[in-house]
Amino acid sequence: MPMSHSLSLRPASPLLAPSLLSADFSRLGEDLRMIESAGAQVVHVDVMDGRFVPNITIGLPVVESLRKATTLPLDCHLMIVEPLRYAAEFVKAGADWVSIHQEADPHLHRTLAAIRQAGGKAGVVLNPGTPVETLMDLVGDFDFVLLMSVNPGFGGQSFIPRVLDKVKRLDTLRTERGVPFFIQVDGGVGMKNAADLIRAGADCLVAGNAVFKAEEPKRAVAGLLEEMLKGRTA
Ligand code: DX5
Ligand code: ZN
Repeated sequence: MPMSHSLSLRPASPLLAPSLLSADFSRLGEDLRMIESAGAQVVHVDVMDGRFVPNITIGLPVVESLRKATTLPLDCHLMIVEPLRYAAEFVKAGADWVSIHQEADPHLHRTLAAIRQAGGKAGVVLNPGTPVETLMDLVGDFDFVLLMSVNPGFGGQSFIPRVLDKVKRLDTLRTERGVPFFIQVDGGVGMKNAADLIRAGADCLVAGNAVFKAEEPKRAVAGLLEEMLKGRTA
């Protein structure tokens, strides 16, 4: 009999994490207040090193400043080589969640433990071409999985629909093991796919352009949250 996903293993309500990558870096404080008052529950921070991905973005000093500017959880997505060198530093700088790419780290178990030991929630990120089954022997060692639905490096790319199937397979794995990790999706998320992603088993959606490049970003947050709830109720 096919197993349906178990709500008891998921956060009570779906979470929206606007990605600051698409915000105006000269007014991050205002943008934080805007997403906070609009009801977003998490702040997604894309850390890129110009090596694991072609782009260079935000580092530790910016995370320290963001920490002083919001009470929302800071979710640092590390797109860097050798994540063990910096992962715990991001927790010390104020990150609540830190995720590392499986493709960047041959010692995931060690790096995830370092994040948890520093007091953070530890996540593994999978690029579009990396199967969820590669996580089988790490279940229990991470708090969440981030599935990339674009190739990491830039905002504003098109959603890769095959990730929906990965979400479902990961949800099945969670149900079979009875371990309450949450599932996050990042890249090309918007009004067209938000409900479907939640329905498939995702718990937290990252959205950059769909929030900050919208005509009215505050309404965009509210609209996405509403759409996400449909995926839980319909
Ligand atoms: C891409 C980043 C994403 C990006 C998403 O490498 O990890 O977080 O900001 O942006 P959108 O939602 O515009 O695809
Ligand atoms: Zn990201």
